[in-house]
Amino acid sequence: MRNVFIFLGPPGAGKGTQALKVSQELEIPFISTGDMLRNAVKKGTTLGKEAGEYMKKGELVPDEIVIGIIKERLREDDCRKGCILDGFPRTRTQAEALNKIVEDMGNSKIITFFIDVPDDEVIARNTKRRVCANCGAVYHLENNPPSKRGICDSCGGELVQRNDDKEEVVRERLRVYKEKTYPLLEFYRDKGLVTVEGVGEIEEVYSRIISKIKELDKA
Ligand code: AP5
Repeated sequence: MRNVFIFLGPPGAGKGTQALKVSQELEIPFISTGDMLRNAVKKGTTLGKEAGEYMKKGELVPDEIVIGIIKERLREDDCRKGCILDGFPRTRTQAEALNKIVEDMGNSKIITFFIDVPDDEVIARNTKRRVCANCGAVYHLENNPPSKRGICDSCGGELVQRNDDKEEVVRERLRVYKEKTYPLLEFYRDKGLVTVEGVGEIEEVYSRIISKIKELDKA
């Protein structure tokens, strides 16, 4: 059985941070719609130009665009062993589309993690996040700083603030999350939803997730 892990939670809950660590541990691909869309914006593709208009305002990119990207990505060979999705699904339509994609993949199941973090922590994490302009590595000015101020530990690239990490945009992303994505918890509740306390050191949250995965493996 191959597992498709999804990570739900408010903006800045640590979904990307944790999903990447789990994908390295399980040796399955890490697929982030946010990263894919930001790459398209950076390259100035047609998709990037359209998506960028929504992203800079903190709104969701239309379902049909994101579903198309995910459908194509999950067809690639490296997803045969399963994968980790970060930032998808975010709406009921996306969740229903994912069910269909996973059903068509055969012998696959969805495991959903919800990383629970309160609003004030969400604002602090997003506004103090910095990302590498070159490789995309994620840092936090206080909780996860680079060794040298403003410089990426992995590649030496420049650390910058994401356009959508300005406080007013973060507040809009949080509003959109509550309206469109939070209701998905109900959708997944009877389908094996695992809730994880997201406050604490990055390593602490990670061990909570890994121990849940081990429990699920034994079940
Ligand atoms: P996306 O990139 O997915 O943004 P998001 O969901 O708002 O999530 P973030 O990336 O902001 O946060 P995260 O939870 O991954 O936290 P992170 O690990 O970085 O999407 C961006 C935009 O793209 C959307 O607004 C939308 O426009 C569009 N989009 C993407 N997917 C879409 C979809 N499916 N449909 C439609 N539109 C879509 O951590 C945050 C910070 O906190 C970091 O600085 C980190 O170092 C720090 N941190 C992490 N864990 C901890 C911890 N335990 N303690 C302290 N600090 C921590």
